[in-house]
Amino acid sequence: MKILDGKKISALIKEEISLEVKKIISNNGKRPHLSAILVGENGASQTYVNAKVKACEKVGFESTLIRLDNNITQEQLLEEINKININKNIDGLIVQLPLPESFDEDLITKSILPHKDVDGFHPLNIGNMVLNLPTFVSATPAGIIELLSRYNINTSGKHCVVLGRSNIVGTPMSILMSRKNNPGNATVTLAHSRTTNLKEICLSADILIVALGKANFITKDMIKPGACIIDVGITRVKSDFTKSGWKLVGDVNFKDVSEKCGYITPVPGGVGPMTIAMLLKNTLLASKSTF
Ligand code: GUN
Repeated sequence: MKILDGKKISALIKEEISLEVKKIISNNGKRPHLSAILVGENGASQTYVNAKVKACEKVGFESTLIRLDNNITQEQLLEEINKININKNIDGLIVQLPLPESFDEDLITKSILPHKDVDGFHPLNIGNMVLNLPTFVSATPAGIIELLSRYNINTSGKHCVVLGRSNIVGTPMSILMSRKNNPGNATVTLAHSRTTNLKEICLSADILIVALGKANFITKDMIKPGACIIDVGITRVKSDFTKSGWKLVGDVNFKDVSEKCGYITPVPGGVGPMTIAMLLKNTLLASKSTF
């Protein structure tokens, strides 16, 4: 079994980005600038946004974190987004999801200008992605593709099973894996909560991408020997073996599955760091007004 080391690959990508930023600056160019909006006090979201801001610093980007109170109105949030939309100094904008229940996430996502939507969540950018046109591809699926590419995993003609059909991960992932590209060219099954013969489907997967948000859901009896396992899940569970009393686990029971699979992403240190690296890549593209 080989570990797909997202931490290591993301460090390489950050190094590449940081070199490009140095070149831009030495040619009197503008430092790429990412703005992130965080609404409310969701603990996981705070951790993710802080990590994104820290990553910006690391590669030499400017960043602005806008923290808004849980009980601001949707109108106020739209005003904040609009201020950033018209701010020529800011290249990319993300609004961390999930938003508190009172907000219409689809409306908020649509209100970010497509050429600043470095999350790739705007319907126009999703449409471009589906049509294989140049665009911002959502960071998590783009990070998985990049990881498969850097480890030279052969996906052509393979059966790829994606578990979970979220707009952010499962749906775009299924499209990227099926399209005429490398990585890609896979035969894709998108399975979800209404899928009936899940175990049988998983057992036929050469590449299994799990984005369900269910801790330790995939066990070794559900995977094909030698399969490539990509674990997108991240859940905090109680532990007697850590100082804090908590640990992070994925949707895959790592210890169990690692005896049987060919490749696996760890949690933490697999898909998570790749997501951040791809967000930085999208922000760099935005700063060059690529799309
Ligand atoms: N919530 C979980 N993943 C993401 C992401 O990639 N971007 C944003 N904006 N919110 C998220």
